[in-house]
Amino acid sequence: MKKVLVTGGHGQLAKCFKREASERLNVVFTSKAQLDICEEDDWDFWLSREHPDVVLHTAAYTDVAGAETAQDQARRLNVDAVRLAARKCRMYGARFLLISTDYVFDGSLRRPYRPDDPPSPLSVYGSSKADGERTAFEENPDTLVVRVSWLYSPYGKNFMLTMLRLFAEREEVKVVNDQVASPTCGLTFANYLKQFILNDPPAGIYHFSLSGEASWYDFAKAICEDSGGTARVEPVNTAAFPSNVSRPAYSKLDATSFEKVVGESLPPWRNAVTYCLHTHQNEHNN
Ligand SMILES: NC(=O)c1ccc[n+]([C@@H]2O[C@H](COP(=O)([O-])OP(=O)(O)OC[C@H]3O[C@@H](n4cnc5c(N)ncnc54)[C@H](OP(=O)(O)O)[C@@H]3O)[C@@H](O)[C@H]2O)c1
Repeated sequence: MKKVLVTGGHGQLAKCFKREASERLNVVFTSKAQLDICEEDDWDFWLSREHPDVVLHTAAYTDVAGAETAQDQARRLNVDAVRLAARKCRMYGARFLLISTDYVFDGSLRRPYRPDDPPSPLSVYGSSKADGERTAFEENPDTLVVRVSWLYSPYGKNFMLTMLRLFAEREEVKVVNDQVASPTCGLTFANYLKQFILNDPPAGIYHFSLSGEASWYDFAKAICEDSGGTARVEPVNTAAFPSNVSRPAYSKLDATSFEKVVGESLPPWRNAVTYCLHTHQNEHNN
């Protein structure tokens, strides 16, 4: 059985992977306290002890707005630690699988972004992730990068959980309608990531994107409908929420090469909202 070592074991994607992908893979989860991705000794300890076939690198600096003022910290985790991780994986013979983001793009295209479209990030976070990708390939040409957009799940901090709270607290919730991509249920993503790992794809950059497109407003409406929320969801422009960070207006990802590896078309984003909410409600009630 393939052995996968996961970094950032307490993060939302790692928790999704734990729930969905532990069957058929031998998975070792490491928390920040166990494997600090900035610490060379930690990498040596875990890679020499576990000998994983694949390192699934979910640990990252993920606070998009925070990165604008914590640039050094964002780059330490998303560039320097990725360089170290990619190098250590090469040394110990583990495949390096880095999770990245649609925010490496500026959103000016009007067709889905392909893996070989040149990155042109608008934010410090996006730029740190793009530089991390590049540095990973420099250190370790056998690297796999999977980019994903708008991750949500029953775990951690994310748009779905924020909306559920706001729908309970307010009569009206204003949501941005002029940023478009495809929301990614972390549980669905984890399931496909398992298949992706099992199929041993060629090195390179891949895009994961559930089929269809949505604005944050469409996404919020879907969450409201499926959760039985009674709040009014109102569409607004990005300008209604002044922010220190620019986000791409359009960042739908073209998942064709990922679909080829897993051997099927990815399902609609809308179905995944229903599945994720259902799982959330079940876990909440137990
Ligand atoms: N969330 C999204 O919407 C989104 C969208 C596209 C791509 N992505 C990418 O997907 C990946 C997973 O995101 P996520 O939402 O699961 O993030 P997350 O919930 O913020 O998890 C990241 C984890 O990394 C850990 N971490 C931070 N510093 C560390 C260190 N020095 N050593 C080891 N672990 C450390 C964090 O631990 P602490 O919490 O204890 O600091 C946290 O558990 C990231 O690469 C992210 O860039 C996310």
